[in-house]
Amino acid sequence: MSKIDFYHVNYENLAASAKPAIPDKHPFRQGISWDLLMDVWAAEKNYGPHRVRGPLPTCRPSHIAIRGEQSTERHMARRKLVYEGKAKILYEGPEPGTLVQYFKDDATAFNAEKKDIIEGKGVLNNRLSEFFMTGLNTLGIPTHFIKSLNMREQLIRAVEIVPLEVIVRNYAAGTMSKRLGIEEGTALPRPIVEFCLKDDSLGDPLVSEEHIIAFNWASQQDLDDMLALALRVNDFLSGVMYGVGIRVADFKIEIGRVYEGDYQRLIIADEISPDSCRLWDLKTGEKLDKDVFRRDLGSLTDAYAEVARRLGVLPENPAPISKPTLIN
Ligand code: C5P
Repeated sequence: MSKIDFYHVNYENLAASAKPAIPDKHPFRQGISWDLLMDVWAAEKNYGPHRVRGPLPTCRPSHIAIRGEQSTERHMARRKLVYEGKAKILYEGPEPGTLVQYFKDDATAFNAEKKDIIEGKGVLNNRLSEFFMTGLNTLGIPTHFIKSLNMREQLIRAVEIVPLEVIVRNYAAGTMSKRLGIEEGTALPRPIVEFCLKDDSLGDPLVSEEHIIAFNWASQQDLDDMLALALRVNDFLSGVMYGVGIRVADFKIEIGRVYEGDYQRLIIADEISPDSCRLWDLKTGEKLDKDVFRRDLGSLTDAYAEVARRLGVLPENPAPISKPTLIN
């Protein structure tokens, strides 16, 4: 396939419509990976080579060229790495107070005891987090999200992360079920908000409001604001997901401080994606979140793609993730 053929496909349609028509000559049918396809889509939308780009997709060694593809490496600008976490990388943004957040394909669970690379996960989480953060911004629930850059990156506001994970639970599951012996799936009498200290070496322990104030991880005012934000996010997420037949059993958010003149305020940061939520199909109870990986329940990308498909943010069937056609 020539470069011209490759670029003539209408990727815009592909990414925007819930049920794209995939012609026989489409790259999906010709062994080109979905990840690469999405990168080409991004290039076509002018998020391309002139812009700073993240690492190459993990699906191939960087020295191997793919028929019809321009070398990404040649165009890749050097940029300053600010922080690399388990699932994301932060790079310096184009303007002061901004960062570029890159979503990796790495999946980890149980404090990184279980690890894998799940091809396409970063693309899905980027799109899903964009979708949720944009919705929250629209409702006046402030988030760090500024704009999408490409299929793996978004421009965000730099924040000072509050060293607490804020967990909201609507149904018992996970560590709550283990800790309190409440059967997984039990509806809770009201949403319950928990705080955990962000410290991998301690396994992110659950902490009380007393601890938070005493050790100065956040002020009483911060706590009140975080609680209000968490409950607003819960209403939004639960409502949106209910509309597509999915129950939000629980989720985790992170919160950041931004300074505006003499004032500081708290905004939603990090990501909101199936990596950080428990999402259950309303009818069947099927898990559509990271528990699929934690508990070896099947294909994680299929689960995340199903969430994205129902929300209309990705094509119906991104599943044919096959190895790209390689040339020397
Ligand atoms: O493990 P646990 O039951 O406490 O998790 C509650 C929710 O918070 C789950 O949706 C889980 O995916 C999320 N979580 C997270 N990151 C952590 C801990 C929990 O996204 N470090």
